[in-house]
Amino acid sequence: MPETMLCGVTLKNPVIAASGTFGFGAEYGRLFDVSKLGAICTKGLTLHPREGNPGMRVWETPAGMMNSIGLQNPGIPAFLEHELPRMRTMGTAIIANVGGGDLEEYVEGVRLLSEAESIDIIELNISCPNVHEGGMAFGIKANVAAGVVAAVRRVCRKPLMVKLSPNAENIADMAVACERAGADAVSLVNAFNALAIDIHARKPVFDNVTAGLSGPAIKPIALRMVWEAAHAVRIPVVGIGGITTWQDAVEFLMAGATAVQVGTATFVKPTAMLDIVDGLERYCAAEPLTRL
Ligand SMILES: Cc1cc2nc3c(=O)[nH]c(=O)nc-3n(C[C@H](O)[C@H](O)[C@H](O)COP(=O)(O)O)c2cc1C
Repeated sequence: MPETMLCGVTLKNPVIAASGTFGFGAEYGRLFDVSKLGAICTKGLTLHPREGNPGMRVWETPAGMMNSIGLQNPGIPAFLEHELPRMRTMGTAIIANVGGGDLEEYVEGVRLLSEAESIDIIELNISCPNVHEGGMAFGIKANVAAGVVAAVRRVCRKPLMVKLSPNAENIADMAVACERAGADAVSLVNAFNALAIDIHARKPVFDNVTAGLSGPAIKPIALRMVWEAAHAVRIPVVGIGGITTWQDAVEFLMAGATAVQVGTATFVKPTAMLDIVDGLERYCAAEPLTRL
């Protein structure tokens, strides 16, 4: 597979480990050569450490999984001190995924991350609850998302990729709003809002009631959203959602994605991304990869 240029950063290939499914790379580094990946997205980072949600955190579903981790992470200062130096030795590009409870936390978090030399791209996760908006997520309304992107853009000295929620009112409008507010790329999608009920306990499986659905179950919807976003903006689009095989990755690239992220598939087969890289290489050597 030829090198991929994403926001001015050269990736060895277009296959990226999705945020929250690869930690900071250390555990998987014991299983395979992570330098073969195009990039690693960190677990979602927030300015302050977060313990995450109580109760059930992951739940298997037919053709997918649900999660309610609650952005458990050590906080950005601890990440910069303890995790980033180790990530830097992994031989692949580093994308720092950042979340926040409110606008100030986003801005301060991005400012700190953007000072770290070895971070290549900042991925802004706008699917977190927005306490200033009465619990509504930043990622639902295009004008609210544009506000946070513009505020972060002012302090961000790295390429800024905005990760869109599939729960957005209109995904193409959302992508355009982020582009206009200063995003260098958009990545989509995050997990879908979903519900599971324990029929014996007669209550929702998750303490938070709803949780995020990911995996093959969401792939056709994610693919449609990537298609719509890619046809609405000029900035690169990174495709995410249920990608499990190299054929899935080809579909996203044909739909207009510049690169892809793989999440849930890694839980099923830790080396799934290597298979995807190999398959893409063979496909591209045999036939042209055309964008539809
Ligand atoms: C256990 C788990 C934790 C996740 N944590 C994050 C996170 O911290 N930040 C984020 O932007 N996305 C997070 N995601 C979403 C994934 O990065 C990805 O967008 C989503 O799972 C869809 O891709 P997939 O179907 O390949 O898993 C998480 C997903 C899972 C399954």
